[in-house]
Amino acid sequence: MNERLRIAINTGGGDAPGLNAVIYAVTMAADRRGWEVYGIRTGYKGLFDTDEIIRLTPEKVAGIVSLGGTILGTTNKGDPFNMPVKNAVGDVEVRDVSAKIVSNFKRLGLDVLIAVGGDGSLRLANRFAQMGIPVVGVPKTIDNDLASTVITFGFDTAVTTSTEAIDKLHSTASAHERVMVVEVMGRYAGWIALNSGISGSADAILIPEIPFKIDSVCKKITDNELHGKDYGIVVVAEGAKAEGGELVRKENVEEGRQEVLLGGIGEWVAREIHQRTGKDTRSLVLGHLQRGGSPTTFDRLLALRFGAAAVRFIAEGKRNVMVAACPPTMEAVPLAEAVEKMKSVPLDSDSILTARDMGISFGD
Ligand code: F6P
Repeated sequence: MNERLRIAINTGGGDAPGLNAVIYAVTMAADRRGWEVYGIRTGYKGLFDTDEIIRLTPEKVAGIVSLGGTILGTTNKGDPFNMPVKNAVGDVEVRDVSAKIVSNFKRLGLDVLIAVGGDGSLRLANRFAQMGIPVVGVPKTIDNDLASTVITFGFDTAVTTSTEAIDKLHSTASAHERVMVVEVMGRYAGWIALNSGISGSADAILIPEIPFKIDSVCKKITDNELHGKDYGIVVVAEGAKAEGGELVRKENVEEGRQEVLLGGIGEWVAREIHQRTGKDTRSLVLGHLQRGGSPTTFDRLLALRFGAAAVRFIAEGKRNVMVAACPPTMEAVPLAEAVEKMKSVPLDSDSILTARDMGISFGD
């Protein structure tokens, strides 16, 4: 296919280490085919206010593969079907600006949008696909919770950061004979908690897929003393909940934000452990540290492969698909199907079995 295509790319939702590597791969792979690439700033906002579009060239993206964040900016308040915009008198009102985005896309002579995002952003991309914007999705999330792809980039970096933090907590917990409770991200899936908890030798890992009994967690901590260990490490996924309990969420939801903000379960678990065992207990929330910094080698390579595959699929004429990692290859799966399914930790997974064999408690 010798057509000189004009490709747009945006990054939406929470950032994830590896976004810049995708932008780099797309730019390089498109440039060598003689295509043009345009970066849309701040999710879909750049297609509403088209001053926010930048031409991406090999010179422009040189050196960005190792950078965290995204040179295009991102937002999780950028739903164009419910976008807060200023009206003629300066008041902010929520409007559906999707039709304007579609008409701007066409007016600019763009051929395909590469939408790099998690479940929320890819669902938006799918709505635009139905409205006539040809889309190729690239899955991104530190949460690793998209079903159609074996893995998403950003996850390995988040797990690495969490594991390093847990490693450091062992010495201070041991010095003070304390229990340290670490809350990690992941939304409704326990992948980050599970992988970092096993790798960091936690005593207990609490994940959304296994509602926990706080007494079981306490028993694990006090049983440590039977074999001479007088401290404990508990890793809690932000979406974990006690049996019969509720998700713990934050109240301060910003204007325009669609999704609930989770957080606070770690503090609750720490308080309960202290009250029930009498042990000194502290909690910490790793929060956005997990999304920051340079992507690991694994995430860089994965992100580069996602970006290159997106361009290859476009060259093959594929549209309205999502690039999915199906080792050893990348596959194009229908976008509409890909955005429907979430990936939870399977309870019979090898990692769960490994954790149990290491004596790690899930509080069940
Ligand atoms: O989806 C990625 C993620 O980091 C979740 O793990 C977390 O719940 C959420 O985003 C936090 O969002 P925000 O960046 O708006 O605080």
